[in-house]
Amino acid sequence: MCGIVGYSGKQEAAPILLEGLKKLEYRGYDSAGVAVIGADRIRIEKVGGRIALLDEKTEGGKKLPGTVGIGHTRWATHGAPTDMNAHPHLSNDGRFAIVHNGIIENYASIREELLRDGYKFESETDTEVIVHLLEKYYDGDMKNTLRSVASKLSGSYALGILCSEYPDRVFAVRESSPLIIGIGVGENFFASDVTALVQHTKNVIYLEDGEFAVISPANIEVFDYAGRTVEKPVSRITWSVKAAEKGGYPHFMLKEIHEEPGAVKATIAPRIRDGEVVLDDLPFSEEYLQSVDQITITACGSAYHAGLVGRLAIEKMAGIPVRVELASELRYSDPIINEKTLVIVISQSGETADTIAAERECKALGAKVLGIVNVVGSTVAKLADYVLYTWAGPEIAVATTKGYTTQLAALYLVALFLGKQRKRLPEEEYREYIDEIDRLPKLMQDTIDMNYALPDLAAQIYEKPAVFYIGRNTDYAVSLEGALKLKEISYIHAEAYAAGELKHGTIALIDVGTPVVALCCNEALLEKTMSNVIEVKARGAKVISVTFRDEDEVIAQSDECILVPRTKTLFAPILEILPLQMLAYYTADKKGCDIDKPKNLAKSVTVE
Ligand code: AGP
Repeated sequence: MCGIVGYSGKQEAAPILLEGLKKLEYRGYDSAGVAVIGADRIRIEKVGGRIALLDEKTEGGKKLPGTVGIGHTRWATHGAPTDMNAHPHLSNDGRFAIVHNGIIENYASIREELLRDGYKFESETDTEVIVHLLEKYYDGDMKNTLRSVASKLSGSYALGILCSEYPDRVFAVRESSPLIIGIGVGENFFASDVTALVQHTKNVIYLEDGEFAVISPANIEVFDYAGRTVEKPVSRITWSVKAAEKGGYPHFMLKEIHEEPGAVKATIAPRIRDGEVVLDDLPFSEEYLQSVDQITITACGSAYHAGLVGRLAIEKMAGIPVRVELASELRYSDPIINEKTLVIVISQSGETADTIAAERECKALGAKVLGIVNVVGSTVAKLADYVLYTWAGPEIAVATTKGYTTQLAALYLVALFLGKQRKRLPEEEYREYIDEIDRLPKLMQDTIDMNYALPDLAAQIYEKPAVFYIGRNTDYAVSLEGALKLKEISYIHAEAYAAGELKHGTIALIDVGTPVVALCCNEALLEKTMSNVIEVKARGAKVISVTFRDEDEVIAQSDECILVPRTKTLFAPILEILPLQMLAYYTADKKGCDIDKPKNLAKSVTVE
């Protein structure tokens, strides 16, 4: 996820662009840049660093005179955060500059075509292909050019474009990434969201997918793919600037929960092509894959919990023995790892000290390392032999939500890829999984939408001294993450137990009214889990079951139910965890906790 801004008016553009980018910094902050139409040409300044560095380099924008410009703050997906990979990108003839939020899924083939045509590339980004397409197809009419270039792109994009032939205007294009136009007096703006606009104007136009805009100081023209003018209503922003940073949500955590379907889609969609899992990021040789005789997954916290689900998926689909080790344990345990071990290191931040140390240890022992990471160019990513990025966008809240579910998505892709490559997964079963993984973003959205009553459930548990989470196999892995979410933001003691373990001691802690969250989405083990539910109920527990919405038997036995759409057992965790994240959120909110910045915690544990 990145942030883009644009301005066309009578004021100096660069200072306005820089201010707007600062408001969008939470959307991405590993590199930034601005482009302004100067007296003689388009001038660009950009840095592989924070916006403050750009501000300093341009002396607050003074070094870029001009009243029309675009700006970008980046969350790297393709290409590390360097000066060259920062946006804006300039066409070879200097006539066009572009900023982009989104992912161009077919950029590789377009890049090859443009290279054959003799265009020179400066960056590793997917975005740069667009600015060369503009040069290639420019016919003197920007509206035609924009439409023909957009027709060649697949993926998501919110674009801001300058053309030196049109010195008084900026161009905007929207497809599956947000883009909003701000209406000023003798000046107009665009931005990725209202945060960057609300200090200038509260009158906005929301572009829809497939819409283009020509924005000059006194006019805004919106048209569609067919070139037809689109009449757009003007909306009035009611948010404060502060609220706008969170997209109108009271906390980043809630905003990021609602981003999870889109984040999982961004992680999965570019890697499913013609019904196959295609992992260009993982150029494993056939020979290497056949040589792998064990996989070790290592991580910390929620990433470790994701690894527990990944283990079950990889063992089931690929038939390779997998063990999951806490990074802080593995690094001091003389692990039996060698060149036949594939090590999967999972980390949202890519900067967790224990995880990095474990990764170094595994490499020293001869293993190849696959990093599943959310931050491009982070230490875990740089150390890894292969990297499968989770394209969740920046995660601001300390308690991870979209970081965890996109890690699950990436692990499902790896499991399917290995299962296929090692000819372990029967074709029909492979097809069923591919069809179902495609449905997950929609099922996730349905899960969020159907669990609107969770604040009421939170009101029933927020004063309890302890909450237990139980489950078996995949449900046990999810219960660990559900318990962590509750304790880390509401500070309520929460413990996860393998349901079969209750009788071995823990059931002694169950009293009348003790809340027990029972994860009941593993169909093969449902009967067993239900017998544990009945055992705790017999001792007075208040059972809150998480189960499929048509699982009548479980619903009948539960005091409260949290329902999710039915899916394959291995994929159920990516749905079950959503209401558990929301339950934790509403419980902490009820307690008045500092949800985005819980006490004693940091977003990235960069020390041991
Ligand atoms: C999760 O909500 C916690 N913030 C924490 O457990 C986190 O998952 C852990 O510190 C690992 O972080 P990483 O994924 O950035 O390596």
